[in-house]
Amino acid sequence: MKILLVGSGGRESAIAFKIAQNEKVEKIYVAPGNGGTATYKKCENVNLTDIDELLVFAKNNRIDLTVVGPEEPLTNGIVDKFKSEGLKIFGPDKKGAELEGSKSFSKDFMKKYGVSTAEYEVFYDHKKAKEYLENCNYPIVIKADGLAAGKGVVICEEKKTALETIDLFMINDIFKGSGKKVVIEEFLEGIEASILSITDGKRIIPFLSAKDHKQIFDGNKGPNTGGMGVVCPNPYVTEEVLKDFYENIMDKTLIGIQKEEMDFKGIIFFGIMITKNGVKLLEYNVRMGDPETQSVLSLMKTDILDLIEKAIEEKLDDVEVEWEEGYCVNVVLSSKGYPGKAETGYEINIDNEEISNIFIAGAKLEEGKLITTGGRVLSVVGKGKTLNEAKNNAYKIREKVNFFGAYCRSDIGIAK
Ligand code: AMP
Ligand code: GLY
Repeated sequence: MKILLVGSGGRESAIAFKIAQNEKVEKIYVAPGNGGTATYKKCENVNLTDIDELLVFAKNNRIDLTVVGPEEPLTNGIVDKFKSEGLKIFGPDKKGAELEGSKSFSKDFMKKYGVSTAEYEVFYDHKKAKEYLENCNYPIVIKADGLAAGKGVVICEEKKTALETIDLFMINDIFKGSGKKVVIEEFLEGIEASILSITDGKRIIPFLSAKDHKQIFDGNKGPNTGGMGVVCPNPYVTEEVLKDFYENIMDKTLIGIQKEEMDFKGIIFFGIMITKNGVKLLEYNVRMGDPETQSVLSLMKTDILDLIEKAIEEKLDDVEVEWEEGYCVNVVLSSKGYPGKAETGYEINIDNEEISNIFIAGAKLEEGKLITTGGRVLSVVGKGKTLNEAKNNAYKIREKVNFFGAYCRSDIGIAK
C-alpha cells in the first residue's frame, strides 16, 4: 500500500513510525513532514500542504489511503474533496470537523445531545459580551470561536482581563476572524485528561487515557504551550471516571454524530476535566493530540492501519484494541525562548541507539544533520511497568539527545 500522511509534527512522526510497521505498507509520503520523517523507514517527505495539490499528488501517485494528522485541512474540507474524487481518506467530513473548528458549534452540539459540559453563552457583539462580563462570576473563560493555533482560550481571573480579551479578540481581531464570535464559559476546577478515540460513525472505541502537561515550567507554572509532556495512561482516570465519561460524554456524542448525519470515520479526541461534580467535556478535537499520540501509540499493540481501514469500512463493531501493560511517559524538548519566540537553527545530536524512542517535531534534515526549526523540537518516550519506571526511562533517554538551549520540564510523571 502507498499511504499519504498529511502533517509535520511529532504526532505525524509517531503515526508514520506506527503505520510503517504494517507489512502491507510499501511507502509513506509525508506532506510536508519533518526531519524525522525524512529518515524513517518507508517514509519520504513531499513538500505540499495545499489541499488541491495534495489531491493531484494522491491521484498521480496512486495513493491507496490518505491519513490526515492536523485539524486545519479537516476543517477546510480535505475529506469531502478526496471522497468526491473517489479517493480513500481517514478523517471526518467538514461538518464533523466543525466539532473542533467552531467552539460555538461544538458547545451547541453538546447542549443539544446532553453531553456534560461547562455552562456557556455565545456572543457575536462585543458590547453584549462586555455587558455580560459586568455581572458574572470570576474566574471566567473566554474562547475564540474559530481555530487560533491553541491560543484562543483565555482564563480571566478578573473583569479587567476579561474586557481586554474581548477587545483583543472581537475588536482588534487578533485571530483574523476566528475571534469575531466568542464563547464565554464557566470556569471548571479539576484535573484534565485527554481521551483519544477512533470512530466509524457507528461505534466509538476509546484509546488509553493520557495526561498532557500544558504549562512550560515545572509544577504546572508559566504560560501555556502546545504540550510539554504526557503520561499514558492518565493516573487520574479511574474506572469511575471512565464510566461517567462513557455515559455522559462519549455515548451521547455518538448519538449526536449520527443524528447530525456527519460522515465521521476518524479520530475524536475528548479533552475532559475531572471535577467534584463529575466529568465535563472541555472540547472536542477531530484529530490525534500532540504530544499525546507519541505516548498513546507507543503502548498500542493493535495495528493502527488495520484499525483505520476498519473504521473506513464501518467495521469497528467487532474490533478490540489491545494495549501493552504499564505506562509510557513522553518528555518534550523545546527550543530556548518557547512558547515565546523560539531560537532555532541548532544541530541536534542523538545517540543512534535511541532513535526509535525519539519522535522529531520541529526539525529539518540538512546535509544529513537534524537542525532545529520550531518551538517543540522532539519528544523522548520511555516505557515501564510502573509510572516511575517509565518516567526514569524517559529521562534517561533525554540524556542521550541534545541541542543548544534544549529545555524540558523535569517533572513529567510526577506533576499533578
Ligand atoms: P480548549 O481548547 O477548549 O480545550 O481549552 C484549552 C485549555 O484551556 C484546556 O486544556 C484547559 O486547560 C483550559 N480550559 C478550557 N475551558 C476551560 C474551563 N471551562 N474551565 C477551566 N479551564 C478551561
Ligand atoms: N496536546 C493537546 C492537543 O493536541 O490539542
